[in-house]
Amino acid sequence: MSDNFIPYCLPDITEAEIRDVIDTLQSGWLAKGPKTLEFEAKFAKYVGAKYAVAMNSCTAALHIALIAAGVGKGDEVITTSMTFAASVNTILHVGAKPVFVDIDPNTGLIDVNKIEEKITDKTKAIVPVHYAGQACDLDKIYDIANKYDLFVSEDAAHAIYTEYKGNRIGHKPQGAVSYSFYATKNLATGEGGMLVTDDINIAQKARVLITHGMSKNAWNRYGKGGSWMYDIEEPGYKYNMFDIQAALGLNQLARLEDMQYKRESLVSLYKQGLKDVEGIVLQEENEYTTKHAWHLFIIRVTEEFPLTRDELIDHLAEKDIGTSVHFIPVHLMSAYNEYKYNSNLKNTEKWFEEIISLPLYSSLSPSSVNKVINNITSIKNKKRLQKA
Ligand SMILES: Cc1ncc(COP(=O)(O)O)c(C=O)c1O
Repeated sequence: MSDNFIPYCLPDITEAEIRDVIDTLQSGWLAKGPKTLEFEAKFAKYVGAKYAVAMNSCTAALHIALIAAGVGKGDEVITTSMTFAASVNTILHVGAKPVFVDIDPNTGLIDVNKIEEKITDKTKAIVPVHYAGQACDLDKIYDIANKYDLFVSEDAAHAIYTEYKGNRIGHKPQGAVSYSFYATKNLATGEGGMLVTDDINIAQKARVLITHGMSKNAWNRYGKGGSWMYDIEEPGYKYNMFDIQAALGLNQLARLEDMQYKRESLVSLYKQGLKDVEGIVLQEENEYTTKHAWHLFIIRVTEEFPLTRDELIDHLAEKDIGTSVHFIPVHLMSAYNEYKYNSNLKNTEKWFEEIISLPLYSSLSPSSVNKVINNITSIKNKKRLQKA
């Protein structure tokens, strides 16, 4: 790998984060403690939710949301296949069956107009994914959920900062909303996640379930005033966040707007540079996403472009540019073959064949973005190779 390599993704870590992690290490409190509680409170305030429960991943939050809502064995949960496996694994982990709805061919988001036709008397929940940082049409989704008495667990792994019709994702949530702080995410703590809700029952259940099912405040049993006595209310999980992660999270949250501003300016460069390239189609932006988190910058490589999607990935790699594909549809992976049943997921499969995620992160330089653009726009006459 040469020094000129532009990685697909890099976290944005400053001296302030490093200093606060060291402070936490020196504080004597490494596990879940004051920093985690502070991060929860600030995060809840930031998104506009009543309760925030910090966890060790978004996967944990998605899992806990379904358990807390009572989704379980034999139930069906509607979701999209254009997502990471976590959205679907957690449905399977509660014993429910994922039911895939196709995507809108222009945005890549779940097609809300196709949700109702998948509802049966076993359907208990919907897991919409705010894919790439763009908001799903929540009004329509909650209308359907209210009509059929379904729980909504929003997968907002990509959508910290995203606004739907002027409000942040997670603002006064009607169900549960789960965020990811994985290393590649807009707010990164290495690993980490957060569940937000306005429902006290879900929040309380989540708090108990993420520390083995221990009774409230057992996390503080080694602190001043803590008691050695605890009960296990139900067999739970070890899903809690800890203070070293929270120290990173607090700093990242304080810098989020600034990091997003940088992302937005890089996205403007990409849009300007790629808008007139024949055969390159940008992800369409829906009118109700009033702020886009731009977790991913996705382009579609269509028939009109001189190279196929795979050839363009290889070409960019030769030019020292890292890219990725979000996502390989879940239903096409071997673990989920049995859930393909009568799903017509043509838009999802076509989308997958065309997409590339270009490098995008707040520490990326405008000149690197220009290099990516130039390496795409300079491809003029290469013939597409025949697909095998
Ligand atoms: C859409 C989506 N949902 C859930 C997750 C899981 O997040 P985590 O790694 O924090 O568990 C990811 C991770 O990339 C994701 O992209």
